[in-house]
Order: sequence, then C-alpha cells, then structure tokens
Amino acid sequence: MKNIIVLTGAGISAESGLKTFRDSDGLWEGYNIEDVATPEAWERDPALVQDFYNQRRKSVLEAEPNAAHYALTKLEEKYNVTIITQNIDNLHERAGSTRVVHLHGIITRSQSSVKANLTYPIDGWEIKMGETCELGSQLRAHVVWFGEAVPMIETAAQLCAKADLFILVGTSLAVYPAAGLINYVPREVTKYIIDPHIPTVSNRRIVEMPYKATIGVPMLVDELLLNSAN
Ligand code: APR
Repeated sequence: MKNIIVLTGAGISAESGLKTFRDSDGLWEGYNIEDVATPEAWERDPALVQDFYNQRRKSVLEAEPNAAHYALTKLEEKYNVTIITQNIDNLHERAGSTRVVHLHGIITRSQSSVKANLTYPIDGWEIKMGETCELGSQLRAHVVWFGEAVPMIETAAQLCAKADLFILVGTSLAVYPAAGLINYVPREVTKYIIDPHIPTVSNRRIVEMPYKATIGVPMLVDELLLNSAN
C-alpha cells in the first residue's frame, strides 16, 4: 500500500467552529499568542494560561469533526495514511483516523509543568490550579508552547521522507519546525495543498486546491480512492 502523509493545521478544524490563529490579525480568541502560549506567560500568570486552555478544551469537547476529518478516515481503506497535525484538538481521532501524530500536543491531556513527557488523561474539561503530577508539580495543558521543544518532529520528518503522496490542509506554514516538514518529502512526490489561501511554497510538483477543507478534502479523497482502483 502507498504511504500518504497528511499535514493538517487549524484550517481543517475551522468549519467545526474552532478558530484558526492567523485569520484574525494575530489575535487568538482575543489574546496575543505570546500572552498565553509561552513558558514566560506561564511563569508570569499561570492561572490566566490555565484558564485560557480550559476554555479552549471546552470548545474542543463541544466541537464535532467535519466532512474533511471524516473523508481522511476513508482514505485508510486503500492507503497507509498517517496524519501529522499541528492541531491540539482531537477531531481526527474522534472522526476515526487511526494514525495521528500530534506535533504540538493534545489539549485533552495534561502534563507535568516540570517534565513534558509526564502526561495524563483529563477528567472533564478543566485542569484546576493545585492539581499536581506525581512529582508534586502543577499540571498544565499538554501543548507545545512557543519556545519549547517539539519532541515529535524527528518522527514526523522520518514519516515525510517515506511519503508516496503528501497532502497539506489548512495551514499557513508560518510556524517552524512544522513548516519545514515538506522539505523532507522526496522531490518527485506529488504534493497537494488544500487551503482557500494557498501558502507560498518553493517546492516542485505542487497541486494547488484553493478550497475550504470540507469541499477540497472529500474531493481529493474521492479522486485518490478512484485512482487506487485502476
Ligand atoms: N479550510 C481550509 N483551510 C482554511 C479554512 C478552511 N475552512 N479556513 C482557514 N483556512 C486556512 C487559512 O487560509 C490558513 O492558511 O488555514 C490556515 C490557518 O493558518 P494558521 O492560523 O496559521 O494555523 P496553523 O498553520 O495551523 O498554525 C500553526 O501556529 O499558533 C501556532 O501552534 C500553533 O499549531 C499552530 C501553529
């Protein structure tokens, strides 16, 4: 079976009602990203950061996967599909995708504030101040903040190097190291980009699909399923 790697960003969840980051002048739900998504922000005002992610978690739990998330699960019938997502929501999993790599963590888990790989499931939507990990440190959301290491990037790069087809959905490619993953995909591999605002990419064999995810992803999936039958 051919390997398909799908790199997704906030745009794939936009039609599920979850806001993207850069479509609203750098403001994310009314906050500057730096004020809520950095280790410095956590040091300055942990309660504010905790509350911000509690609210985001609530929105994620209330959201539903959309036609784009579901279409990607159908691809698994004929291809070896791995989704590498920058999103911290769990909509790919809830739609039924079986191999999902979360580059920036997942908001439905908590993590120790002193040891990033110590993570736990969360009961409900809230991490309370005073809730601690087994080392006695405050729990925070299991998300990668600006300025923190991206532990899954090596795994993701190796997956990209083995791609037979590469699909980008709903990402501005503004944030590294995720934005550099396309450079690990072999030159001769066809790369599809589904996004109403196609980001600039200097790469060969790009097929631009300037559509919203719920239109473009099912369209491409149908085409790939048909082709696999030939
Ligand atoms: N369908 C597809 N794409 C869409 C849709 C839609 N309905 N709506 C918006 N988009 C596209 C935008 O055109 C844009 O290119 O989604 C992209 C969203 O870009 P960003 O907001 O920058 O999100 P993303 O690329 O995922 O951000 C990367 O930055 O803030 C950090 O860690 C955070 O993971 C995030 C990373």
